[in-house]
Amino acid sequence: MSTTSDRAKRQSIIEACRQMNQLGINQGTSGNISLRHADGMLITPTSTPYETMKPGQIVFMKLEDGPPHAKQRPSSEWRFHRDILKARAEVNAVVHAHPPYATILAIMGLAIPPIHYMIACAGGDTIRCAPYATFGTEELSQQAVTALKGRSACLLAHHGMIAVGPSLSKAMWLAVEVETLARQYYGCLQIGKPPLLSKEEIEKVRLRMAGYGPPDE
Ligand code: 13P
Repeated sequence: MSTTSDRAKRQSIIEACRQMNQLGINQGTSGNISLRHADGMLITPTSTPYETMKPGQIVFMKLEDGPPHAKQRPSSEWRFHRDILKARAEVNAVVHAHPPYATILAIMGLAIPPIHYMIACAGGDTIRCAPYATFGTEELSQQAVTALKGRSACLLAHHGMIAVGPSLSKAMWLAVEVETLARQYYGCLQIGKPPLLSKEEIEKVRLRMAGYGPPDE
């Protein structure tokens, strides 16, 4: 039986999925989203078009368990969603997408360096690129958790991007910022080697930006 907050969370996940595609940071049924809920998470179902997705198709999974033996299968990436939520108590939302520019950099195995002060939004002076591992695997999950250490976003080699946050609106906002940074870095690389901001400057910005962006709730 769904509680109101359970249903509202399911609806917010679907709306965020549709928004990912409308914003151009994802396409088709790629990407997936999870939200912490009670002792588990609500996560998008695998391979399901966002336009027709219904709240009842969002899957609930306990963080200590594997996927439920239900008709509706969770995203193939349930492992990294679960492992990120388990490793990071401050994270309530995980957004995974295949944004064009972030994925171009990820294909080339490039981390995003401090080209712009907004990189501080992701928690540090770089957005790391996790080494390649097959989608849906334990190995990919471990690589993602490692690349996210001290950060709220990372790239996944030959795959895409993950952004996390205390709320879904914050994680979605960050996903768009990461794609913007990726696009800027890609543009800079067409001209040459961009000058970078220092680690100290990014740390100064990070502290000034505390609380910046959409609400944490
Ligand atoms: P799902 O449809 O299983 O969520 O997979 C999409 C995806 O992006 C895998 O990385």
